[in-house]
Amino acid sequence: MAQAERGRWGSRLGFILAASGSAIGLGNIVFFGANAYKFGGGAFYVPYLVALFVVGIPVMMLEFGIGHRSQRSFPLALRELAGPAGEVIGWFALVNALVITMYYLTMLAWVAGMLIGSFGPLWEATAATPALHAAGGPEAVPNPYGFFFHTLSTPSVLGLVVIIWMINIAICWRGTKTIEAAVKFFVPAMWVMMIVLIVRGLTLPNGGQGVLYLFTPDFSAMGEPEVWRGAFSQIFFSLSLGFGVLTTYASYLPKDSDTPNFALQTSLMNCSFEYIAGFAIFSMLFAFAIIPKASTLSMSFFVLPQGIQALPGGTAAIYGVLFFVLLLFAGLSSSVSLLEGLTGAILDKFGGDRLRVMGVVFVIGLLGSAAFAWPKVIDPNLNQNGTLGLTLLDLFDHNAFGYGLLLVGLAECLIVGWGRGGQQLLEHFRATSRVPMGTWFLILIRYVIPAALTVLLGLALWDEVQNGPYGKALVDEQQIGASGLSLWWLPASAPLIWLLVTLAGAAVLGRLRAREATA
Ligand code: PHE
Repeated sequence: MAQAERGRWGSRLGFILAASGSAIGLGNIVFFGANAYKFGGGAFYVPYLVALFVVGIPVMMLEFGIGHRSQRSFPLALRELAGPAGEVIGWFALVNALVITMYYLTMLAWVAGMLIGSFGPLWEATAATPALHAAGGPEAVPNPYGFFFHTLSTPSVLGLVVIIWMINIAICWRGTKTIEAAVKFFVPAMWVMMIVLIVRGLTLPNGGQGVLYLFTPDFSAMGEPEVWRGAFSQIFFSLSLGFGVLTTYASYLPKDSDTPNFALQTSLMNCSFEYIAGFAIFSMLFAFAIIPKASTLSMSFFVLPQGIQALPGGTAAIYGVLFFVLLLFAGLSSSVSLLEGLTGAILDKFGGDRLRVMGVVFVIGLLGSAAFAWPKVIDPNLNQNGTLGLTLLDLFDHNAFGYGLLLVGLAECLIVGWGRGGQQLLEHFRATSRVPMGTWFLILIRYVIPAALTVLLGLALWDEVQNGPYGKALVDEQQIGASGLSLWWLPASAPLIWLLVTLAGAAVLGRLRAREATA
């Protein structure tokens, strides 16, 4: 496709805002809090920083670099470096990202629902679901749980799913132009809202304890492979790595951009946001002595709202609205990058009409999001420990997030590090960047990062060999299927479905001929 038809960021700031908008998302608030709690707060921060500097920043430099140098989106950039096989890996990343997009938008629909609820109903007392009560559970449950299971975990959530998809399409409507306009509003607003929440949390009696919790290292935890795996997966997801979307964003940059510098800025901004989000979350939990038993999505959806509800002076609704608006903005500025990553790549290869391409992605994506939101696959019995139970989302997340991202990271480092691309990329960086890019970069992407990712992937597989499919996750959480639908087959088939969809999708998109044979 002719250069002029590709997107172009209006300014350097526009790109930085879009990239950091992509990075700062639900991962920074929802998953960071949950992971940091699960891995013991201070036990997490050393592995986290190692993961950031040794893997996160260099891989972001790589993903930006190959897009900027080739001015192509992820699959075609990899094709330049490794031929048709490279392109197939690129499409694998994007199909895997599409699976994640589907449930990311489902989570955003839940966020939107919680936002609506936080104007009032979220804070009203609710009974337990009849099923939970019949099973010997309590008569009443904390309000946020009740609200979720009585209101959001019903077919009406599908309306919210449609709305969230339409908002995403609207923001991507004209590509870089509309995305840039949106992130110029979303990203600064997110920082402001986060700072307000932090000030509120830290000025609570005992609020500061929560921050200490995040900063007191626990060196004994450093020997735990689980903690390292958690930190590396968190960094990949949070920095939007392994999705192929940052390459597409960087391909819209003008030739003279300093991408290593942009990678530094984006990742440091992302991780500072994430860390201070931890201040807000942990200060509220500590101030009210709330001990989360659950460590997944339920932390932000159920546990933290209990802290917000306990805020003095009848301010729960104010801070509740603020928190969920923040989640919504952070999530939207991320999800549009997922949508643009795929749309941009399809347009790059096949040309055609932008809106038609988005229409197809919309229909497929919407069906997937609806499946993830479908109440029957969310356990309505309320697992006693307050998690959602093992949902369809968990089943696919296990592969798409747990394996997919790291596999893509491994493949791209090997392709660039061991092919001729490594030297070319280094020369490109040296010609455009003020960051001293040297052989250290090649050593990292050739040896250190592949070794680290291989160990992590090996550990994940080993967990499944030892503890059965899904490893510890399935042991800790409740099975799905308690809802009357017979879904016993789903946990066993989800990995196969995921493999089939990603591999077949990658093979088809990779082998289809590009429409214009002119280039
Ligand atoms: N980085 C986002 C988050 O932290 C997730 C994401 C990844 C979004 C890749 C877009 C692309 O929530």
